[in-house]
Amino acid sequence: MKVSSLTDRISGEGAAAWEIHAQAQRALSEGEDVIVLSVGDPDFPTPPAIVESARQALQEGDTHYATVPGRDALRSAIAADFQKQSGVPCEINNVYVFAGTQNALFSTSLILLDQGDEVIALEPMYVSYEASLQLGGAILVPVAQPADNNFRPVISLIEQAITPKTRALVITTPNNPTGVVMTREELQAIATLAIKHDLWVISDEVYTDIIFEGEHLSIASLPGMAERTVTINSLSKSHAMTGWRIGWAIGPAMLSEHFDNLALCMLYGLPGFIQEAAVTALTDQRDASLAMRDIYLRRRDLVANELAKASRLTVLTPQAAMYVMVDVRGYGLGSDEFCRSLYHATGVSVLDAGAFGNSADGWVRISFTLGDDVLVEGCRRIVKFLNEC
Ligand SMILES: Cc1ncc(COP(=O)(O)O)c(C=O)c1O
Repeated sequence: MKVSSLTDRISGEGAAAWEIHAQAQRALSEGEDVIVLSVGDPDFPTPPAIVESARQALQEGDTHYATVPGRDALRSAIAADFQKQSGVPCEINNVYVFAGTQNALFSTSLILLDQGDEVIALEPMYVSYEASLQLGGAILVPVAQPADNNFRPVISLIEQAITPKTRALVITTPNNPTGVVMTREELQAIATLAIKHDLWVISDEVYTDIIFEGEHLSIASLPGMAERTVTINSLSKSHAMTGWRIGWAIGPAMLSEHFDNLALCMLYGLPGFIQEAAVTALTDQRDASLAMRDIYLRRRDLVANELAKASRLTVLTPQAAMYVMVDVRGYGLGSDEFCRSLYHATGVSVLDAGAFGNSADGWVRISFTLGDDVLVEGCRRIVKFLNEC
């Protein structure tokens, strides 16, 4: 039977990148000796007070359809949190609740982009951007943040990519996989381009709470940007809540009618008990991420130190997030080949960073979302494998 042409637009390299990871997860569940360093899922439990508020809501019968854009209490907690963090005035009407940053990006791209529009996304970029941005028929124009510029944005490259068809620009700060936190100067230069060419900016800020060096700045807070920016975020990383699927988009109030229409047919609201838990996360448990961040920092340094024992490996120490990027080209291996050979020889799964964009070809992403002992063992296996190459 025939399926739609949309299926082509959602089956790019992004989907293929997870192959080794999926094999490793399966082997792990069957009790094999594998170490999964290929996923960005925090190993921490969701803080108990958040779980408790979901449990309580369930017990009280909060199991019915909930308001489609998100409950007022949650939207207002998100608005207050964003306003406090960014200084951007934010009200309930600026906030739309979605099933994670992923779903917020998917929805935003359908609302902002027309068939044939060009959307610039700075790569390396999260692997599912490609499908999310293109599924409605827009054309993705990846712009490199080159490795030899430490994966930082190059404004002239962005400007060169803008055409009369460009409708939007997508940025990720802090970045996955590189951990780069954009500076005020970089964001201001991007904002200037967006204003000059009348572009929307979609800003993925899901790693805001896990910054080790540098300071987070929301591009929406720069002059003239709030009205053209959609900021997407979630509790997945900040509160170790990846499986709860709770996130949001914040943008001009005129978008909420369109988000409403889309969510009515796509999602019909998130479960009420999850929304209650999210309110607890953003109020009572707002600082839960601080302790996690300290542990990530310790792990980052642990991993960087262990990997430094492989003499031809270039290790990029991240400013933020939960990944270390390493350049494996010194060993004469492509990054895809490296990931496959490493996994089959040692049981350690890492992710081919080339799947995040051409500028990360030859690099692999190693997550530090496991405890110290397992991380050290994983790194030792990697170093031993490289020393035998
Ligand atoms: C940059 C980036 N955006 C979005 C997501 C998806 O996050 P969520 O769980 O909020 O959908 C991830 C997940 O790793 C990510 O790294």
